[in-house]
Amino acid sequence: MTNIKPLRIAGVGYCVPETVITNQDLTQLYDTSDEWIYTRTGIKERRVVSGNETAIDLGFKASQSAMKKSGFKPEDIDCIIGASSAPPQLYPTMASTLQDKLEIPNNVPAFDLTAACTGLIYALQVARGFIGAGIYKTILIVASDNNSKITNWDDRGTSILFGDGAGAMVVTEATDGVDDILSLKISANGTIGEYIYTDMPGQNCPLVTPNDKVGDGKIHMNGKEVYKFAVTTVPKYVEECIAASGMKSEEVDYLIPHQANQRIIEAIQNRLKYSDDKVISNIKYYGNTSAASIPIALVEGVEQGKIRLGSTAVLCGFGAGMTWGAAVVRLREGIC
Ligand code: UT7
Repeated sequence: MTNIKPLRIAGVGYCVPETVITNQDLTQLYDTSDEWIYTRTGIKERRVVSGNETAIDLGFKASQSAMKKSGFKPEDIDCIIGASSAPPQLYPTMASTLQDKLEIPNNVPAFDLTAACTGLIYALQVARGFIGAGIYKTILIVASDNNSKITNWDDRGTSILFGDGAGAMVVTEATDGVDDILSLKISANGTIGEYIYTDMPGQNCPLVTPNDKVGDGKIHMNGKEVYKFAVTTVPKYVEECIAASGMKSEEVDYLIPHQANQRIIEAIQNRLKYSDDKVISNIKYYGNTSAASIPIALVEGVEQGKIRLGSTAVLCGFGAGMTWGAAVVRLREGIC
């Protein structure tokens, strides 16, 4: 590849809602226990929106924070990519609504992509293509998921897992020539798409034969198969992505994985032979926040002193589709 412009990660932000739902709280809904949930998933509590708060509100605050860190102003952004599988509306897209709220000029393109929990990595690859080709210069990526609205709260097998949250990233052409993406791969396998699905509700035109299957708009998941898929596919993939960056596993400073299950995180950690201090996990407090989980873990990791900037990290995501992806990135000083 020639003449590909390098990308700089300029700012990262996040936002989680205030309301905390503990495992103990969930015992009011069905027969479960803190011990069962914690030992199988590593989750103790999750955050959920309350009242009229939406993924857009969370995405707005995450974007403001990422833009502030980046030093870019709304008028500098020339493309907005939303990554969401649980937005408040199918359209207008979350990205379009945020363009208005953030006062980003109303002629720049704004669209959402759906790659479930791999959304941030997919969006980063799309942004990399745009910047690399010189089509857009400075892109706002907003990953925000309001999972609590599409969770089936009668299903103890899935509703224990998910939480709400948002992360945002401003990426721009690296004018110093240093590319912050050392390697990035995304993949999908639609053959096993039924492992996690959310069917849209709705009926056919009343003048034709009605459809039998009316979706309920809720998350359905075959947890065992997703678990097996994740522990067999993702660790090897992450290792391959690191190899593609030209680095050795031990040279990468941090693993910042999608937060789906502590045992899945440990499977990746074991493959890379990383000590605990190199692995960022906050699933205990937020559960699975889908596309937002990686940027939340990154920024919180910096805030809590677990991540030192001026370092490198491997990010990885996986989820419905099935989709998965990984990236080895440079984390410059001052990005969060
Ligand atoms: O971004 C990707 C998102 N998804 C994932 O990463 C999901 C990956 N999968 C998982 O994390 C695990 O499959 C779960 C944590 C969701 C479930 O753990 P499991 O060990 O696969 O449990 P299971 O669904 O096979 O259920 C085992 C038993 C069942 O009882 P019986 O049939 O053996 O009597 C369930 O009814 O545990 C029961 N069970 C529960 N018991 C107490 C299921 N959910 C609960 C619960 N509390 N919340």
